[in-house]
Amino acid sequence: MKRKEKKTYWRGIHSPFFFDLARHLEGGGRYVDVAYDTGLVKAIDQIEGLRQDLRRSSDFIEVNDFGAGSRVFKRKSREVKKITRHVLQSKRVAFSLLRVLIFWRSPGRSKKILEMGTSLGLTTAYLAASGWDVETWEGCQQTANYARKNWKGLGCEDQIKSKVGIFKSLMEESQGGWDVVFLDGHHDRDATLAYVECLKTKLNPGGAILVDDIVWSKGMKEAWEKLLDDPHWNATMKWRGKGWLFNRDGEIEQHLKLRKSYISLSKFNKMKLFTIVFAAVTLLMSTQVQAQGTKDQMKTEKAGNSTSTEGASKIFGEMLVFDLNGKTIVKVSFDPIMDRMGSDKEALASSQQIGNFKFTSMGQALNVLSSHGWMVEHVWTTLERSGAVQHFILSHEVAKLTPVSPWLSKNTNTGTKG
Ligand SMILES: C[S@@+](CC[C@H](N)C(=O)[O-])C[C@H]1O[C@@H](n2cnc3c(N)ncnc32)[C@H](O)[C@@H]1O
Repeated sequence: MKRKEKKTYWRGIHSPFFFDLARHLEGGGRYVDVAYDTGLVKAIDQIEGLRQDLRRSSDFIEVNDFGAGSRVFKRKSREVKKITRHVLQSKRVAFSLLRVLIFWRSPGRSKKILEMGTSLGLTTAYLAASGWDVETWEGCQQTANYARKNWKGLGCEDQIKSKVGIFKSLMEESQGGWDVVFLDGHHDRDATLAYVECLKTKLNPGGAILVDDIVWSKGMKEAWEKLLDDPHWNATMKWRGKGWLFNRDGEIEQHLKLRKSYISLSKFNKMKLFTIVFAAVTLLMSTQVQAQGTKDQMKTEKAGNSTSTEGASKIFGEMLVFDLNGKTIVKVSFDPIMDRMGSDKEALASSQQIGNFKFTSMGQALNVLSSHGWMVEHVWTTLERSGAVQHFILSHEVAKLTPVSPWLSKNTNTGTKG
């Protein structure tokens, strides 16, 4: 009987196991149970730095291709920059796999992953960052050497067991004992079916195979159809042109086709960047006009009354924008010390109201602030455990500030710790 796959977003999955897997593959940062400690962030930064270097590299590798051939390369001598662009898994995919492996870590037992197809070793480096035992196989000696040089540069060479040889022979001589196998090479129908068949006996109970490029060619599509119909794999999930195969005790039989997240991470970041740039430019343009008006006014006042405009200055505020449970939270705050410093009572009164108001979007807050004479001085984003937080330093020109020394005030004889 032909098994049918059910298309779903990660949020729509009932099985807790698959929900967690899909959540870590496709969910945004705050839906993932992974602590991004400094070691992990540094490792990812280094790998991505190397990816950028390799994309610009002028190196060539003499490649012995044991796979299903290439649609990009016609010659044996291949440019490293082209391999980096066309052959390796993307950052998105490698990062998702890393998150899944971290989530699947089990205390007290080191889990094992095999990557079939090392290439330049960037995805291998991601796998190693998970803390799993990583083994990787590559048929081409020169390519494997290049990958080893890359791991040395990243400082992860000791975490990776690299073997050179053709998959068939390595598979035959191997004991197995893997929890996950990532089959990312030799995308040929019969070879894929043969490797998967052999792996059935080499995986740990409950282990998984992730087969890459299952829609790459007619043959690979057929291979996936066949695997889907094999009763041994009681649970499968298609994900970004790859297929997960599981034989899980107690799992309800299911065959899923995971949709991409509503908005891909890169698109989301680009949109966010566009919104910030657009809002900041609008704000700057509108406040430039206002600031010019204030300066002109101050100049006029100074000409008429030299005491009232002495020391024209700025008062400052802060705005934070972040997402919480799918809602945008905007927090605008001004220190109460402003009340005692500013002579511009109108600006102070409106600031108080702005500070108390619940804005529903960053755009709304920026527009309201700009219409009350506030400018954005600085913007930066921090990546917190709950997701990205955007910080804005706001300023407002005022004619005069009365000096205040909080440390001398009776009400505040001690400072607050920041
Ligand atoms: C798609 S690349 C691997 C990409 C890598 N996993 C990454 O994302 O960084 C596939 C690699 O598998 C190797 N390969 C293909 N068929 C093979 C075979 N039958 N035996 C050994 N290596 C093979 C190729 O030389 C190539 O470097």
